[in-house]
Amino acid sequence: MSPTHLLGHRFLFVVGKGGVGKTTVGAAIALAAARQGKRVLLAMCNAKERVSSLLGVPPIGSHNVNVLPNLDVVNMIPRDALEEYGLMVLRSRTLFKAVFESNIVSALLRGTPGIEAWSMLGKAYFHTKDTLPDGRHRYDLVIVDAPATGHGLEMLRVPRIITDVAPPGLLRREAEDAVALFRDPARSGVVIVTLAEEMPVQESIELHGILRSELVLPVKLLVVNQVLPRLFQPAERSLVEALPDALTDAAALRPLAIAARARSAREEIQEASLKRLSEKLPGLSRVTLPLLFAPELGRTQVESLSEAFKS
Ligand SMILES: Nc1ncnc2c1ncn2[C@@H]1O[C@H](COP(=O)(O)OP(=O)(O)OP(=O)(O)O)[C@@H](O)[C@H]1O
Ligand SMILES: [Mg+2]
Repeated sequence: MSPTHLLGHRFLFVVGKGGVGKTTVGAAIALAAARQGKRVLLAMCNAKERVSSLLGVPPIGSHNVNVLPNLDVVNMIPRDALEEYGLMVLRSRTLFKAVFESNIVSALLRGTPGIEAWSMLGKAYFHTKDTLPDGRHRYDLVIVDAPATGHGLEMLRVPRIITDVAPPGLLRREAEDAVALFRDPARSGVVIVTLAEEMPVQESIELHGILRSELVLPVKLLVVNQVLPRLFQPAERSLVEALPDALTDAAALRPLAIAARARSAREEIQEASLKRLSEKLPGLSRVTLPLLFAPELGRTQVESLSEAFKS
């Protein structure tokens, strides 16, 4: 699939193991889409907020804020998201207070499994339907920067749980509509982010299996993040491997030889990981992002990563 098509979705989930670069990738996709004129919402899930430093904008709170042309960002917090979602659905603060703050409803909500996750997912989902006064969609694309694997899966399971346990009514109808959107390959897609290392690759293969078979969600793209360019050819590996031992401890070049050996080993793991991903996830489109050398990633780096997602 071309990255163009990726930006043509209405809803994207960015998922993956902790620390692999989900937020960075979410921000890069958001920038690419916003630059192409799509109105974008990038929604984090109760995260340690890093997007402001990635994009070079002021700190981001729990209400949608416009940070760049065409780009709104929010760090969803369950309590605020639930209130906002309730207000959006009920369209009246008085009604919201009557419904959501009544003891019965509060107890019911507290007793509904996954309601915290749903408050965030429901808010993000609602924004796909949100309209401007002129009738256009407020957002062309909503990107959810999901929590790391286990919690991310928990969140994605929630709409199904609600459709199973909630009594007929607004909550259940909304969850059913959300499931229909999330499963529709024409409108929604899941982006799996991984590193080219053994554990993240294994976890991504398992995650892909659960997303496809249990959750029946359209996985559209695999992003392999932090890939190093190859310095050593396979034929040179045994030489690089043996080099440090061929030098005395005092040899000026020994530290360099040790660094070369470490780099060569890492490249070997990277190649094996990429091969395994091709074997286990054949046919899944892939984008490879380079490991960038910067003390901290900022707007310049995210802009450069976003090039990989443009049409
Ligand atoms: N391509 C890259 N090159 C260099 N550093 C990167 C790259 N991608 C991400 N990083 C760095 O890796 C770290 C983790 O990235 P990020 O916060 O995007 O991961 P995450 O999956 O969202 O983490 P978490 O699971 O904690 O939310 C950050 O310090 C980020 O700056
Ligand atoms: Mg993150």
